Amino acid sequence: MDLFPKAFQSDLANLMRWRRDVRRFRTDPVDRALLQDCLDTFLLAPSVGLSEPWRVIRVDSAAARTAAHNNFQNANQDALQGYSGEKAALYTGLKLSGMQDAPVHLAVYCDEATDKGSGLGAKTMPEMRRYSVVGAINLFWLAARARGLGVGWVSILDEAQLAQDLTVSADWRLVAYLCVGWPQTSDTTPELETLGWDTRRGHLPIETR
Ligand SMILES: Cc1cc2nc3c(=O)[nH]c(=O)nc-3n(C[C@H](O)[C@H](O)[C@H](O)COP(=O)(O)O)c2cc1C
Repeated sequence: MDLFPKAFQSDLANLMRWRRDVRRFRTDPVDRALLQDCLDTFLLAPSVGLSEPWRVIRVDSAAARTAAHNNFQNANQDALQGYSGEKAALYTGLKLSGMQDAPVHLAVYCDEATDKGSGLGAKTMPEMRRYSVVGAINLFWLAARARGLGVGWVSILDEAQLAQDLTVSADWRLVAYLCVGWPQTSDTTPELETLGWDTRRGHLPIETR
């Protein structure tokens, strides 16, 4: 028998189909053990040279959460200036973070100075460490969704300001600010598609050389 039978493969495909970036959360708390279960997926993730460069900060205090939310609001205001006309009007109507409601905030960093892995695979392209963190976040995202939790990735932030507010090592680069909590709704369509910002491609373009 296959280690992963057909039914599991189909469930896995469904999990990916229903994953979603979530920005609308219920405010009820997330059990610590449940969150830890999801976070343990970081320990299963691939990383360049086995460097495991991910570093996770749980942003819990009211002061830190407020600083992060103010950071988002300022960055979002700046980002709006990059659009005009119809696109600006559409952008204004988007909800681009669930920071106010999400019970759990995680700032996920990449330690660019880690000795772990002895630099294997990262000499010519050190950014591979950051890509490793992205891969780990994706596992976490799916694990959380499998347990009914929603994850929202916030990137509209001033990294330097956040590093100062969270007193982060100068060697760490921000990869993601994640909001985690119980989603208000479930959908197979990305919210940006529903709101008319852009659509998901129906096919994967593959070039041949
Ligand atoms: C690297 C990365 C950064 C993102 N940053 C934001 C963000 O700042 N705000 C936001 O609302 N969504 C953000 N998203 C979510 C995307 O908008 C979302 O993944 C995309 O619209 C597809 O929707 P889906 O994840 O529900 O499939 C980010 C996603 C990724 C992968």
